[in-house]
Amino acid sequence: MSIDKQIGRRAVICGAIALAVGVNPDIAKAAVAATGVTQRKDGKLSIDLTKNPALNKVGGVLTIDLSDGSSVAIIRTATGVKGLSVINLSCTHNGVTVMQTGNKWLCPAHGSQFTFAGKVLQGPARTALFKYPSSATLKTLVIG
Ligand code: FES
Repeated sequence: MSIDKQIGRRAVICGAIALAVGVNPDIAKAAVAATGVTQRKDGKLSIDLTKNPALNKVGGVLTIDLSDGSSVAIIRTATGVKGLSVINLSCTHNGVTVMQTGNKWLCPAHGSQFTFAGKVLQGPARTALFKYPSSATLKTLVIG
């Protein structure tokens, strides 16, 4: 089963699981836990960007820990409403949570490295980190 299907089954965005917001200790040094996160009736997540100033600057990262044990990162990769990327932090090699090191993600298990937006820089992972569809306004980011 591909990681895309696994993550899809986790129903992060489908609304089938309860959302637990908190700080993932693996990435706590670099990232900030998101606040103002709600799950909409359609299952999508809505993040109040006015409550998350960490995303005001390029390079800012917020995390959302999910009840299935995985974590989502919201990354400011560029300015403007299209400058946010949303990825799952489960390594596509074997599912270990990746850690932020500078402007990359590093897997502590076997050394895979990913760009800030989740593309593979170094294996053994061969597939990019799962990227969620998202859309943003100046005040709100919707994931799903
Ligand atoms: S689990 Fe990430 S490199 Fe193996």
